[in-house]
Amino acid sequence: MIKLGILEGSLRRASLSRAVARAATGLVPGGMDPVSLPNPGTLPLFDQDILDAGMPESVEAMVAAVEGVDAVLIVTPEYNWSIPGGLKNAIDWLSRVSPNPMARKPVAVWSVSPGLLGGARVHESLRQTLHCQEAVIMAKPEVQVAGARGKVDVETGTITNADTEAFLRGHLSSFAAFCNSWSRA
Ligand code: FNR
Repeated sequence: MIKLGILEGSLRRASLSRAVARAATGLVPGGMDPVSLPNPGTLPLFDQDILDAGMPESVEAMVAAVEGVDAVLIVTPEYNWSIPGGLKNAIDWLSRVSPNPMARKPVAVWSVSPGLLGGARVHESLRQTLHCQEAVIMAKPEVQVAGARGKVDVETGTITNADTEAFLRGHLSSFAAFCNSWSRA
């Protein structure tokens, strides 16, 4: 059984990407057990002085949650062609732990945007940062949920577009196979 941690890139309540992240828990194939990781908004802004004074409980909770999963799915918007600050901050906190809880862990990324490019540019930024964590990134197939306002119900956290739902299901199956091949390697 692959325990899949789902990490949200958006902090806001009515987030489109958060709705997709919630929906993902219902789209996983057999053999995958999804769990929501704490939202990055629970963490303080990284400051070495805070860490030197003792790791905050919220960070400890995030670290323990990521340590407890076999693989991570990041579902995020793109901010200014790059990683939203809250998500980058969460990765920065995790990177201060040894061993890094992301290291040698399979990671897949879904970007979500109301725009036509679907947040395509956040993938490259995230890949760069995730490489630095020694995460094992499934680069393809890529997932960009474009025009998300017409495909997602933020109230119920469901995908309302059948093609999108089928595509995301298929992607999770590919990711499960990727995780299994990696764990056997
Ligand atoms: C955005 N948005 C955005 N969209 C995009 O496709 N590419 C981008 O580079 C940006 N940049 C950006 C910066 C900032 C600071 C904000 C607040 C927004 C728009 C963004 O995709 C839109 O607000 C989404 O709805 C945000 O994601 P959630 O919160 O709905 O998941």
